[in-house]
Amino acid sequence: MEIKTVGIVGAGQMGNGIAHVMSLAGYDVILNDISGDALDRAMATISKNMERQVSRGKITTDAHQTALSRMTTTTTLKEVGQTDLIIEAATERETVKQAIFEDLLPHLKPETILTSNTSSISITRLASRTDRPEKFMGFHFMNPVPVMELVELIRGIATDEETFRACKKVVERLNKTAASAEDFPGFIVNRILMPMINEAVYTLYEGVGSVQSIDSSMKLGANHPMGPLALADFIGLDTCLAIMNVLHDGLADTKYRPCPLLTKYVEAGWLGRKTDRGFYDYRGETPVPTR
Ligand code: CAA
Repeated sequence: MEIKTVGIVGAGQMGNGIAHVMSLAGYDVILNDISGDALDRAMATISKNMERQVSRGKITTDAHQTALSRMTTTTTLKEVGQTDLIIEAATERETVKQAIFEDLLPHLKPETILTSNTSSISITRLASRTDRPEKFMGFHFMNPVPVMELVELIRGIATDEETFRACKKVVERLNKTAASAEDFPGFIVNRILMPMINEAVYTLYEGVGSVQSIDSSMKLGANHPMGPLALADFIGLDTCLAIMNVLHDGLADTKYRPCPLLTKYVEAGWLGRKTDRGFYDYRGETPVPTR
């Protein structure tokens, strides 16, 4: 089956990035969100990020304009259901995702492939609540989507080969690389990345190092592009905590227990960049460590 149209549910950080790369690759995109304001913000972000690519010579002004003309937005799921491939990129909460798939079902074409950009929730469980577990899989992008080259493709227990092949072709057309992962908590990237971030928070919690020394150590000592605490702020501390809880519950091993300090930041509403405060305070000109 050839994918021509893509429906994206959720216009947040991940959804707008996915719409960005899909439209540049030539797919007709319908971007959905329950909030019209969120859609307006997403379109402004996409345009700004594409302008940045134009100014760095990565894409032409023509490509930018054509990509924007391939995108439409909607606050209802009706038209989204008529696309060939749907990527759900809503909040990382299972009840929210399940409700979206249930609401989509009456509008779907028989051949529509359903996918979720979940970073850790069971694909098999999400698929089991739909009418097409064999046409359901995990399609996990990394942030920032226009820059990161990897997409994890996760098969649920029932996913068929045709669905996997169709999704892999899409990843290739995006000029990205697919890594195939089995459906276990956190898949590959987050199974490895999140315990590292959580350990960085423990290192801070136990007073081994300050925010600055921990981040400098990993940037300069391990050649990571960002320190683990800056990266946690970038991903969102609520997302990091949610993924640690999925690892802890799903693998039932105490080595995945979330650091109490991570929980405290989330309880304070200090969620990182999106709330202007996390391990760093972003309200001034340059980020200032909060510990
Ligand atoms: N859209 C388009 N282009 C973007 C962009 C965006 N949103 N963000 C950055 N860029 C481009 C910049 O224009 C720049 O392009 P050039 O190389 O042509 O100059 C390039 O990316 C680098 O950006 P900057 O110069 O602004 O900054 P930087 O060199 O510090 O890089 C970064 C920024 C790419 C984010 C880099 O710090 C990095 O790779 N950080 C780690 C990111 C990471 O680990 N992501 C994975 C998170 S885990 C995840 O996503 C999974 C999950 O489920 C939680």
